[in-house]
Amino acid sequence: MTPLLVWIVTLGVFSTALLRSAIPIYLNVADEKFLELKKCPACYGVMLCPAFLMGDIVPETWSRFKAAQLLNTKNVYFATFKDKHVVMKKLGHDPQLEQLDHHILQQSVGLLNNPIQQVSVSAAVRPYTQQNVWLDCVKDLEGNGSTLVHRLRVFDPSSQDIISNDLQRSVGSFRGSDMLMCPSQRKLNYIENEFVKNNFGLYRLTCLYNLMTLLLLNSEPLIFQTFPAKEGWPFPIYYGACGRVVVEEYVGPNLAQWLPQASWKERINAALQLLIIADKFTNGAADFRLYLTDLSLFNTAVGSDGTLKIVDGENIVMVDLEKIRKDRPENFDVPYASDNAGCEHLPFDPHCMSYSEQDMCNRLHNDHNFFAVCRELFSPLDSFGLANGLPEKILKRFPLIPVYQTDCYSSTIPGVRKSAAKNLISIYKEILADV
Ligand SMILES: Nc1ncnc2c1ncn2[C@@H]1O[C@H](COP(=O)(O)OP(=O)(O)O)[C@@H](O)[C@H]1O
Ligand SMILES: [Mg+2]
Repeated sequence: MTPLLVWIVTLGVFSTALLRSAIPIYLNVADEKFLELKKCPACYGVMLCPAFLMGDIVPETWSRFKAAQLLNTKNVYFATFKDKHVVMKKLGHDPQLEQLDHHILQQSVGLLNNPIQQVSVSAAVRPYTQQNVWLDCVKDLEGNGSTLVHRLRVFDPSSQDIISNDLQRSVGSFRGSDMLMCPSQRKLNYIENEFVKNNFGLYRLTCLYNLMTLLLLNSEPLIFQTFPAKEGWPFPIYYGACGRVVVEEYVGPNLAQWLPQASWKERINAALQLLIIADKFTNGAADFRLYLTDLSLFNTAVGSDGTLKIVDGENIVMVDLEKIRKDRPENFDVPYASDNAGCEHLPFDPHCMSYSEQDMCNRLHNDHNFFAVCRELFSPLDSFGLANGLPEKILKRFPLIPVYQTDCYSSTIPGVRKSAAKNLISIYKEILADV
């Protein structure tokens, strides 16, 4: 090597080392800036902190680079956790997280009698939560009501604006997560019990502070814990949280990435699974229904075995049927057929999909899930290739396919959409059984 080359190589090695030590290139997931542990208990939990701090969770692909944080507005990172591929989520974009802290702080200054500048969100979340905590008498194994436990009471964050003024009101009050839609005490107790079970060993009030934080920001971890993958729910496995980061199973590419390479049989299989998911969510569990209000190709991922999972649990509405039966709101037992009202003003937007919150909270029967799935499956964009791309021999064998597709996509007669969806499920199963 010529002396010049030796110099260039030495300089290169030296400057890279210098740069690495001076400017952190790689994301350190044990870093306080990433985990925001100091915000606890205004955080999502601590069960996974040992794994983070012991180096068991290692970012992969572009998530390894610190610079990626700047571009990662969604705050979703990919990593490995003991040889499993996982996703780390901060559960909100930076402005949403700031808004959450601001809301908790602002609502607590009066309770703490401190100026807002002197209060930390970790301190503020306690009185904020305790306003809505009550002591419940729980029966022991012999059936005697002897144990007192702290429980969260149904609340509405927008009505808690104790210091709200006209200016704030004009900006819009704080709504909280979708779990707060269709409020019901039985529902809150149900998710609280699952949450406390998953955070075994933690002081119950601490669990309630964490629960409150999630109820205010994003209820995805509550949905994934209450309807766990191990019980057959089509969600990623939820591994746990540390500070303001949750870890869940990496499922695979989302449908938008997966569909272009999929064969028509694979696409039929994906469509079949989506229809089955719509049915499963509608049937729900323990007299609760789930409604998907943001079903999209991006929010559904495909595992290596072809199984579909809903990976974005932020926009799922959980409805307590027992409460509807008890309250008997107007038309509660009249089945509701989704009509996409409001979207007629946006005829050029094939993605436009509306839903009526009131008709989810107040009706025993609502075909929304089938509506959401069929809007995606048979949209004019035809991402699944089911509207125009089915082989001629299949259409000859099942001539009613186009009728069922149209009914599921646009019927407004109660019952028709669901029955069309069920017929499509049987036909798709038959097609797949033959090939
Ligand atoms: N568990 C997961 N497995 C695989 N991919 C995921 C998972 N969670 C999220 N993703 C990917 O990250 C993207 C953004 O995540 P998402 O939870 O939908 O965030 P946002 O609420 O910002 O839409 C999704 O569109 C999906 O492609
Ligand atoms: Mg999403």
